[in-house]
Amino acid sequence: MLESIKKIAVLTSGGDASGMNATIRAVTRYARYKSLEVIGFYEGFKGLIKDNFTILTEENVGGIIDRGGTILYSARSQEFKTEEGMAKAIDNLKKHQIDGLIVIGGDGSLRGVHDLHARGVRAVGIPATIDNDIAGTDYSIGFDTALNVIISLLSKIRDTAFSHDRLFVIEVMGKNSGLIAINAGLACAADYILIPEIEVDLVKIANSIRNHRKGKRHTLIIVAEGAAKASDVAASIKLLVGHEVRVSVLGHIQRGGFPSALDRLLAAQFGKKSVDLLLKGESDCMTAIQGKKIVSVPIEFIINNRKDISKELFQLAHILS
Ligand code: F6P
Repeated sequence: MLESIKKIAVLTSGGDASGMNATIRAVTRYARYKSLEVIGFYEGFKGLIKDNFTILTEENVGGIIDRGGTILYSARSQEFKTEEGMAKAIDNLKKHQIDGLIVIGGDGSLRGVHDLHARGVRAVGIPATIDNDIAGTDYSIGFDTALNVIISLLSKIRDTAFSHDRLFVIEVMGKNSGLIAINAGLACAADYILIPEIEVDLVKIANSIRNHRKGKRHTLIIVAEGAAKASDVAASIKLLVGHEVRVSVLGHIQRGGFPSALDRLLAAQFGKKSVDLLLKGESDCMTAIQGKKIVSVPIEFIINNRKDISKELFQLAHILS
């Protein structure tokens, strides 16, 4: 028989993503609506190990829906990867009589859910990473906001590229995945997109630039950070094409800020779903959106599958450029 759940905990882990706060709010408000007590651990698994926590209420999650970052702070914990660290985390969950844990974060954080579940903790995950590289869900919280930030920055760079007849190499985030680069490239009419999943041929790109620049005053090359360093790409292109090149590394500007409409809507629905999953006695799973449906996906699936980049979008961006 399903034992009843009275108290849950929530934490945010890994790189911050805009919409994490809206998710904390949704989890807390919906859990309180279901008469559950809620505590939040600070700094992800690090705070769980250190027992650094706060009580979350309907009131103290007010006014955060439109704030980027995370009021619970975030961290990447090496200690949590050790048996000793995990044992401390589990002890703290027991000490607070936590019946279920909700982890908001990227793939590393979701592996934490799996590891805790394997040691008897009821835990579910909510995908939140600007990289959007988690299998089983169309969107992760933070991706849409990051994309909108990049779009607004790239249209400014395009103005300058056009005015000065320049080539620009713009580096976006994505250590292991080109999803941000592809989507930003298509949305911003980039001429070339370099991603870690597809081998880069700079000589071919340089030849093509020489042709396509006839009658064109701007060239935008988007590089995912995992594919190459923008400065290296720029140096090679300058050498090969013989034209002025400028570099812009967008960096952490992409992560924070005012969450987009989509990220807020996901936050509300993922927050509710995660609490419902715990109430149903589910564990070792993640909330996800597939098409228009909010579903749950086993963490095992996420661990064993890599999210595909969309080759069609990648090709389309180059066809339209
Ligand atoms: O959140 C994921 C991500 O944005 C990656 O694309 C990037 O490589 C990484 O975080 C950088 O994070 P940090 O500088 O915080 O270690």
